[in-house]
Order: sequence, then C-alpha cells, then structure tokens
Amino acid sequence: MIVITTPTGDIGSQVLASLLRSAASSGEKIRVIVRDPARLPGPARDQVDVVAGSHADADVVGRAFAGADAVFWVVPPDPHAPSLQAAFSGFTQAAAQAFKTRGVGQVVGVSALGRGTPAAGHAGLVTASLAMDDLIAGTGVAYRALANPSFMDNLLRQVGPIRDEGVFSGTTDAGRKAPVAAARDIAAAAARLLLDRSWTGAGSVPVLGPEDLSPEDMARVMSEVLGTPVRYQRQSLADLGATLAGYGMGDAFVAGMVAMMRAKDEGLDDGVPRTPQTASPTTFRQWCEEVLKPAVLA
Ligand SMILES: NC(=O)c1ccc[n+]([C@@H]2O[C@H](COP(=O)([O-])OP(=O)(O)OC[C@H]3O[C@@H](n4cnc5c(N)ncnc54)[C@H](OP(=O)(O)O)[C@@H]3O)[C@@H](O)[C@H]2O)c1
Repeated sequence: MIVITTPTGDIGSQVLASLLRSAASSGEKIRVIVRDPARLPGPARDQVDVVAGSHADADVVGRAFAGADAVFWVVPPDPHAPSLQAAFSGFTQAAAQAFKTRGVGQVVGVSALGRGTPAAGHAGLVTASLAMDDLIAGTGVAYRALANPSFMDNLLRQVGPIRDEGVFSGTTDAGRKAPVAAARDIAAAAARLLLDRSWTGAGSVPVLGPEDLSPEDMARVMSEVLGTPVRYQRQSLADLGATLAGYGMGDAFVAGMVAMMRAKDEGLDDGVPRTPQTASPTTFRQWCEEVLKPAVLA
C-alpha cells in the first residue's frame, strides 16, 4: 500500500494519477492524506482510501501510515511559517516519528538540488529542505529525496504578465544556464520509485530536465511557441523581497526565497552532472506547447 501526501498539489496529483493508471497491473492499494476530500478528482475518490486531515498532524499520519509499504512525502509551501526550520523539519516531525512506529518501508520526498555545493548552507528554502531530508533519513527508513532544480511550472504564476505584457521576471542573470525540470517528470520519477520495492538506504535522485537553459533561452522558446515576443526582465533580490512581502508573505519565507535565489546565482543547481540517469525527458519547448500555451490562451 502506498500513501500519497498532497494529492491535490501539482506533483502529488500527477503521482496519484500515475499510480492509479498502473494500479490494475501493480496491485498496489493507494491511500491519500488530504485536508478536504472534496478537492480530490472525482474518479480518484472511488479508487483510493482517504485519510482526511493535514499530514503535519501526528494523529493523521499515525492512522495513514498503518500498513503502508511506501509514502510519497511533500512539504507544502508555507509563506507564513515562523521559521524555515518550522516550515520543513517542523512540518515533517510527526511523520518522521510515524515512519518509525508504523514500520514504513520506503519514503520518496520532494526536495531540491544543492547538497554538497558551497552554497548549500545558506540557500534559504533549499537549506531547510536538505535538513528535512536528513531528518527523514535519520529515522532509518529507506529514503530517496528527489533533488529538483526550479520547476518549469513556476512560470504559470506569471501567465498574466507573459500574456498581457510579453514579459517574465526573475533574479537570475539573463545568460546564466541552469537545469529546469517539469513537474510531470518529477511525478514520474516519484511514481517509479514508489513502485520499486528493491531500493534501500538513503540517497537522492536528481531530476535535471533534458538541458540547461538561461532566462534568455526560455524567452526565445516562449516567443516561438506563443508566436509573440516574450522578454526577460531581471529583478534585483531586494525587489524580489519587497514583491513577496507585498503579497503578505512572512519575513522567514521572504528571506528564505531571497537567499535561495542568491544561492542559485552562485551555482546551487550546478553540482550534479547530467547523465541518462539524472536527466528527465520533457523539454522546455514541449512544456510550453502542452502546459504554458493553453494557460496563456485560457
Ligand atoms: N517550485 C520549485 O521550483 C521547487 C523546487 C524544488 C523543490 N520544491 C518543493 O516542491 C514542493 C511543492 O510541491 P508542489 O508544487 O507539487 O506543491 P503545490 O502544488 O503547492 O501543492 C501543495 C499542496 O499541499 C496542500 N497543503 C497546503 N497547505 C497544507 C497544510 N498546511 N497541510 C496539509 N496540506 C497542505 C495543498 O492541498 P489542499 O489545499 O487541497 O489541502 C496543496 O495541494 C515544496 O516542498 C517545495 O519546497 C519546489
């Protein structure tokens, strides 16, 4: 039996869909933890066991992990957490305990690239995510952290300016190439690991996408796919912080985002070479055609 957290989230919903597609052949039972079961996609509701509540809650995870062979673990973004430690390791504390007491075999977590790079210790959200990985691995459960770069899907937050002004913004140097991955590939990597009972120990599985791209490269591909010019506008880290604070995000999260983006410009995502094992298939062009363009035209 596999337990899925955040089944309504971007990655979690795609992990759920993938595991349901293979359920007939894999024979795996699926259980989800969801705050509001009404938000599950209709067809899924009849095919999964539902534990209602937050996966930060000791009682909820204690019930949900009983009889679980594997767990898909995602810490939801919490822009109002008092600290990044609370947002990641604090959120995971009850689950880490329950992995042990419930005898869970394997855990696959969504985390970030950066381990082993000079920037890893001062990379805000990523530093906190790597500490969460250590917390989970420290329980002795078999653990794989999906080590992700920035998601292509982050651009969906900028559909308005892309459509209305032909512009997207970020803090990275316009010519700096870095890996970028589609959420669908991260979900596919998670589903593969969750269905494989052979791995043991702790480690990370990078999901690097098929190529490194700079913001300028991405602007060019978006322009070609959308058939209208899209340009990149570089924002200072101070402006990013002010923008996020303007959205009402808390001090810890804002500082964590700023530190993470500074670390990305210092090479946080450059520590893992791309190989057939670390690459993932979806190109940025394909993602633009299949995900961004429909969102822009909607
Ligand atoms: N974006 C990036 O570039 C990037 C890069 C590396 C790693 N990551 C990591 O990726 C993860 C996010 O994955 P995602 O994009 O798939 O997430 P997402 O789409 O934001 O979904 C998060 C889900 O969590 C649920 N949720 C929110 N608050 C909750 C709470 N307090 N208790 C329980 N559930 C809650 C929400 O579901 P309901 O509202 O239905 O309850 C939501 O569907 C984060 O851990 C982030 O650090 C992101």
